[in-house]
Amino acid sequence: MKVLIVGGGGREHAIAWKLSQSQKVDKIYCTPGNAGIAELAECIEVAPDDFGALLDFVKYEWVDLTIVGPEDPLSKGIVDVFEKEDRRILGPTKAAAMLESSKVFAKDFMRRYRIPTAEYKVFSSYIHAEDHVRMMGAPIVIKADGLAAGKGVIVASTVDEAISALRLIMKDRAFGDAGDRVVVEKCLLGEEASFMVFTDGETIVPMVSSQDHKRVFDGDAGPNTGGMGAYSPAPIITPEFEKEIIDTIMRPVIEGMKSDGIKYKGILYAGLMINNNKASVLEFNCRLGDPETQPVLSRLSTDLLDICLALTDGKLAELEVQWKPEPAVCVVLASKGYPGKYAKGDIIEGLEAAKKIEGVTVFHAGTSFSGSNIVTNGGRVLGVTALGDDIRSAKVRAYEAIEKIHFNGMHYRKDIADRALTHS
Ligand code: AMP
Ligand code: GLY
Repeated sequence: MKVLIVGGGGREHAIAWKLSQSQKVDKIYCTPGNAGIAELAECIEVAPDDFGALLDFVKYEWVDLTIVGPEDPLSKGIVDVFEKEDRRILGPTKAAAMLESSKVFAKDFMRRYRIPTAEYKVFSSYIHAEDHVRMMGAPIVIKADGLAAGKGVIVASTVDEAISALRLIMKDRAFGDAGDRVVVEKCLLGEEASFMVFTDGETIVPMVSSQDHKRVFDGDAGPNTGGMGAYSPAPIITPEFEKEIIDTIMRPVIEGMKSDGIKYKGILYAGLMINNNKASVLEFNCRLGDPETQPVLSRLSTDLLDICLALTDGKLAELEVQWKPEPAVCVVLASKGYPGKYAKGDIIEGLEAAKKIEGVTVFHAGTSFSGSNIVTNGGRVLGVTALGDDIRSAKVRAYEAIEKIHFNGMHYRKDIADRALTHS
C-alpha cells in the first residue's frame, strides 16, 4: 500500500517510522516532511492549504491512505475534501475537529453533555471580559477561542496578568480571528496527563497513557511550549482510572457528537487535569499529541497500518491493539529562544552516535538538509526517545543519547519523566 502523511514534525516522523515497519506498506510519501522523515519517505512540496493539489497527487500516485498529523488542515476541512472524492483519509471532518479548533464549541459541548471541565464564561466584548476577570480575581485562565499554535492559553496568577492576556488576544489581536471570542475559565489544580484514543466513530480503543512537559524550563518554569518532552505510561492513570476516563469523558464525546449528527473518527486526545482521582478536561485535540506520539508509538506492537485502516473503514471492533510493556521517554531538543524567536540553519552533529544507543530512536522535528549536512529548521528540533525496562532506565538512555548530539544553542529540559519517578 501507498501512504501519504501530512505534516513535518516529530509526530509525523514517529508515524512514518512505525508505518515503515509494516510489511504491507510499500511506499510512504510525506508533505512537507523533514530530514529524518526523508530517510523513510519521499518528501513532497505542496502548499499546506492546497487540498486540491494534494488530492491530485493522491489520485495520480494511487495513494491508498492519507494520514493527517497536525490540527491545521483538519480544522480547514481536508478530510471533507478527500472523503467527497472517496479517498481514504485518517482524521475527523471539519465539523468534528471543532472540538479542537474552537474552545467555545468544546466548552459548550462539554456543558451540554455533562463532561467534567472547569467552570467558564465566554466573551466577545473586551469590557465585559475585563469586568468578569476583576470580579472573579486570580488565578484565572484566559483562552483565545481559535487555534493559536498552543500560545492562546494564559494561566494568569494575577488580575493584571489576566487583563494583559485579554488585551493581547482581544485588542492587539495577537492571534487574529482566533481572538474574536475568549473563554475565561476557573484555574484548576492537580496533575496533568494526556489521554488519547483511537475511534472509528463507534468503537473506542485507548492508547497507553502519557504525560507531556509543556513549560520550557526545568521545574515547569517559563512559558508554555508545544511540549518539551513526554513519557509513557503516566502512572497517575491506573487501569481503573482509565476505565472511568473512557466512561465519563471519551465515550460521552463520541456519543454526544453522534447525537449532534457528527461522526467523530480518528484520534481523540483529551488533555486532563487530575485531582483526587477525578479528571477534568482542559482541552481536546483532534489528532495525536506531539511529543506524546513519540513515546506512545514507540510502545505500539500492532501494525499501525492495520489500525489506520480499521479506523477509516469502521472496523476497529475487529482489531486487537497491543502494546509493549516497556515504558518510553522522549526528550525534546529545542533551538535557543524557543518558544520565542530562534535561529535556523545550525548544523546538527552526533545523530548517528546517538542512534546507536540501545533502545533509542531519534525523531526529527524541525530539521532540514543544507548540502550534505542536517541543520536545524524549527523551534523543536529533535525528540530523543528511548524504551527501557522502567522509566528510570528509559530516561538514562535518552539522556545518554543526548550527550552525543550537538547544535548551536541546543536547549533541553533535564527533568523529563522525573514526575513519573516520584510515583514509583
Ligand atoms: P489548553 O491548550 O487548553 O490545554 O491549555 C494549555 C495549558 O494551559 C494546559 O496544558 C494547562 O497546563 C493550562 N491550563 C489550561 N486550562 C487550565 C485550567 N482551567 N486550569 C489550570 N491550567 C490550565
Ligand atoms: N503536546 C500537546 C499537543 O500536542 O497539543
